[in-house]
Amino acid sequence: MKAIAHDTGTLVWTDVPDPEPQEGEALVRVRAAGVNRADLVQRAGGYPPPDGASPVLGLEMAGEVLEAPAGSGWRAGDRVCALLPGGGYAERVVVATGLLLPVPEGLSFEEAASLPEAHLTAYLNLFEEAAVRAGERALVHGGASGVGTAAVQQLREAEVRVATTSSARKVARCRELGADPALDRSDRTWPERLQRAWGGVDVILDMVGRAVADAGFELLATDGRLVWIAALSGRTVRVDVPTMMRKRLTLKGSTLRSRPVVEKVALTRAFRDRFFGHLCDGRIVPVLDRVVEIPRAEEAHDALRRNLTVGKVVLRVP
Ligand SMILES: NC(=O)c1ccc[n+]([C@@H]2O[C@H](COP(=O)([O-])OP(=O)(O)OC[C@H]3O[C@@H](n4cnc5c(N)ncnc54)[C@H](OP(=O)(O)O)[C@@H]3O)[C@@H](O)[C@H]2O)c1
Repeated sequence: MKAIAHDTGTLVWTDVPDPEPQEGEALVRVRAAGVNRADLVQRAGGYPPPDGASPVLGLEMAGEVLEAPAGSGWRAGDRVCALLPGGGYAERVVVATGLLLPVPEGLSFEEAASLPEAHLTAYLNLFEEAAVRAGERALVHGGASGVGTAAVQQLREAEVRVATTSSARKVARCRELGADPALDRSDRTWPERLQRAWGGVDVILDMVGRAVADAGFELLATDGRLVWIAALSGRTVRVDVPTMMRKRLTLKGSTLRSRPVVEKVALTRAFRDRFFGHLCDGRIVPVLDRVVEIPRAEEAHDALRRNLTVGKVVLRVP
């Protein structure tokens, strides 16, 4: 089969060995693969695939089942999408059947490929790690990112008030998706504006790290929870211990890729129960920035690297 190789430092669409399904795995013909920032880090040598995972880039895909184990509930020809530990930038991939989700009715393969990583990350960190509840106030940094656009929509549908930070030209899109207020991160008064509007926040989903840490600790209300999923602006922060004690704050970090398959299967099921219907009836929509033909994957990475995107970039596989 063909897949993207990155061992020369550039992304090359080339011949590689076909993957072989193991027990409990389906073989899927990939029609579209989602692009993630982690792919940029992996190709630079900073985010190695977990043991046993494909060395090929690609943490999510949509396509058609070619072979599935008897009794798995999946058959050849089923349209599916899934989170992957790797291997999505390819014509074929093997996936644990418990990770498969049907492509929601009415969505294209490109739209479906944009869903798993962003939506499962948002769901895991907001609803499981931070245990956000209806009526609470949540702040999503990077609100126009792939994860951010999923998070804003899930929170809106869960009746959680949601605020975002993003660069100025992405503010309008955050607002359209349900953020209110949608704040421009280059306006240094954004923390005071949010404090005035809401009086504090209960939950923060943070991919930014150092640049927003002081403001976040200040904004968090009593029993507030903050979950870090990345540290795009810097990896160390200062913590004032008495503030933590006084407000009883919880600070957490979390990664999805390194979790055991059983946990990812349970997460996929929990997300499906809570939000799959919203994707089928259009209450939650895929937010696609662009679709790029996979031999031109370098262009897709470049768009992410330069922070040009709103929502997801997807590679179309011929
Ligand atoms: N821990 C996990 O399990 C997990 C899972 C998935 C993703 N992630 C991480 O979460 C982050 C978001 O993923 P994604 O795929 O949604 O990313 P994305 O779509 O590429 O968006 C990231 C956005 O972050 C903002 N940003 C970049 N550098 C920044 C900086 N220095 N300060 C403030 N904002 C900055 C930019 O938006 P603006 O132009 O609006 O500022 C950028 O478009 C990535 O770092 C990714 O690796 C973690």
